[in-house]
Formats: sequence, structure tokens, C-alpha cells
Amino acid sequence: MDDGKAAAWAALERECGMCRACSLAETRTRLVFGDGARDAKIMFIGEGPGQREDEQGVPFVGPAGKLLDDMLKMTGLNREKVYIANIVKCRPPGNRDPLNTERDLCLPWLRRQTALIRPKLMICLGRIAARAIISEDFRITRDHGQWFQRKGIFMTAIYHPSALLRDLSKRPETFEDLRAIRDKIREICPATELELP
Ligand code: URA
Repeated sequence: MDDGKAAAWAALERECGMCRACSLAETRTRLVFGDGARDAKIMFIGEGPGQREDEQGVPFVGPAGKLLDDMLKMTGLNREKVYIANIVKCRPPGNRDPLNTERDLCLPWLRRQTALIRPKLMICLGRIAARAIISEDFRITRDHGQWFQRKGIFMTAIYHPSALLRDLSKRPETFEDLRAIRDKIREICPATELELP
């Protein structure tokens, strides 16, 4: 990464760390800015930090994160090949859904991360991310696995790993979605080396 881009990332993370736009900043332990390759072609977007993420400052390090790691593996990916971020950067107390106001105040940070990364594919994890990024009327049970294109980025949404931990019956559909994501990566980002079994 060139010096200018590295400086832009450092400035963005610093600025984000000072954000007090909503009350989540008062109750969080740590900001969860994002993790992974800052020049990745593929982004995964979750909802917001849980307890473990809040403690460690890294997205998806709790039980849902372990499953996300397995899901990445199934598409031939790993954390070094993608960038992972959330819709809100601070933990909503008690793991409640982020409020729309919190989401809207936090989204500009994700937009600025996306502008620096310039991904080709964006995978939303769950309803909250899909509604914020793809369409306000997105229904995850109906629309998961469908592809959309916005500003030159291919987008899809799959069930959130936490939902897959709670409800095993959603897993077969998710395997299909992950297979389709793997195929899309091969089509759209052929330079991404996939580690397939
Ligand atoms: N769930 C999310 O949506 N994001 C995380 O970082 C962890 C759990």
C-alpha cells in the first residue's frame, strides 16, 4: 500500500475512534473499526460488535466469528484475503439491534472504508447489514443469495453466523449461497487465490 493510502487509513481510524455521534460510544469498551486486508477485493459486513468484539476491538472473534472463519474457508478464503467490518462500530448494549439513528450516524465510516478499499464484492451478513447496504425492504429469508449491483460492486447477503448457530435448518441454504459466492469470486476476482480442499 502506498504512503498516501496508509496515511488515509490511519487518519480515518483515528477520526472514527474520536466519534461521539451517538450514545454507543459511551457504553462501549473498544471501538471495532474493522479487520483484514485493506486492499481486499471482497468485504464482509456484519451488524455490530458483540461482547468479545467489544473487549478485543476486533470484529467476529466470538462464537459467531468461529463459524464465520469456517464459512470463509468454504469459499476458499481466510481473514487475510478479505476485509471484515460492521454496520455500527460500537457494541449496542446487551447485543440489541442497532437503532436506525445509530446505523445512519455510523454508516459514513463504512462508506469511507469502502471508498479506500474499492471492493468488487460485498457480502452482507444478516438482515441488518442487508437492509443498510442493499435495500431497506430486504427480507433475508426471501432474498438471501440473490445478487445485486450497486456502484459497480456486486453484493449479496447470507444468513448471519449467529442465526446459523441458533438455527441449524438454515445451514443447507447457506452452503448453497457460499458455493455461489465462491463461483462469483472466480468470475469477478480471478486473481484472488482460493484455497479449496
Ligand atoms: N456479530 C456481528 O455482526 N459482528 C461482529 O463483529 C460480531 C458478531
